[in-house]
Amino acid sequence: MKNKSLVSITDYTKGEYLSILDTAAEFEKNSYQDLLKGKVVATLFFEPSTRTRLSFESAVNRLGGRVIGFSDANTSSVTKGETLYDTIKVVSNFAELIIMRHPLEGSARYASELSKVPIVNAGDGANQHPTQTLLDLYSIRKTQGTLDNLKICMVGDLKYGRTVHSLLMALSQFGANFYFISPDELKMPKEYKMHLDSLNLHYQESKDINENILDADIIYMTRVQKERFSDPIEYERTKNAYVLKGEMLSGCKNTMRVLHPLPRVNEIDQEVDSGPFAYYFEQTENGVYVRQAIISIILGLK
Ligand code: CP
Repeated sequence: MKNKSLVSITDYTKGEYLSILDTAAEFEKNSYQDLLKGKVVATLFFEPSTRTRLSFESAVNRLGGRVIGFSDANTSSVTKGETLYDTIKVVSNFAELIIMRHPLEGSARYASELSKVPIVNAGDGANQHPTQTLLDLYSIRKTQGTLDNLKICMVGDLKYGRTVHSLLMALSQFGANFYFISPDELKMPKEYKMHLDSLNLHYQESKDINENILDADIIYMTRVQKERFSDPIEYERTKNAYVLKGEMLSGCKNTMRVLHPLPRVNEIDQEVDSGPFAYYFEQTENGVYVRQAIISIILGLK
């Protein structure tokens, strides 16, 4: 993994995922280490972010490194017409690692092909969000004690939600059973279902959330991705399709946990936050340790 870009979750093997999770567990015990002293990491966010950018920046700071970059492309020379090609060519002279989020699918792969330094994809359109997946795997293993043969219920926008696409690809290596709960307009894209078919893995599709959550190990809620809709009427029709409420969780397995990559809009009622099943805020904390592991492994420091 040293000096290798992380663009898609499929760039890494199952063994490499586990090695990252084990390194993240070490950082959870001791998060403040001077491994990145004298090193510079660039965070280029062409799309908004709270968790991903700040947890990466927290990870670099905890490791004693420095962060440069932008959180809003409108403050960069993109507004003057600079291309992604030129931006990456330039910034790869300034930093040892580039973490980037961009609205175009495939942009991180493109950047990795022309950058002198490794690229970490922090989300490219509706395509992939591999570092979110690694922190999701960490959270799942921490709460369930294993990643093998779990029942995962993915709920909401399965069409545009890049986190569910990456998570499906990763969990398919651990023999998961999937329940996809979405409106017809936002179903899991065919290519991901074909991938599961090719591995003979079970999945079931439904519009009814109540039908499928009682035997789930993980309920993975997602926001309807307003920014990806070309038709605002379709967004209005689907935005409130699922709202998880406390009473819906009675009868679930005691060990079941609700994850959400966040931000949420209104798909999880706030009353769930104080109940035994909520894990989405702890999930964000896990993101710092996992991103510390990713950065230090790619830079050859672990
Ligand atoms: N989970 C996630 O990607 O959140 P942000 O958009 O706030 O980074």
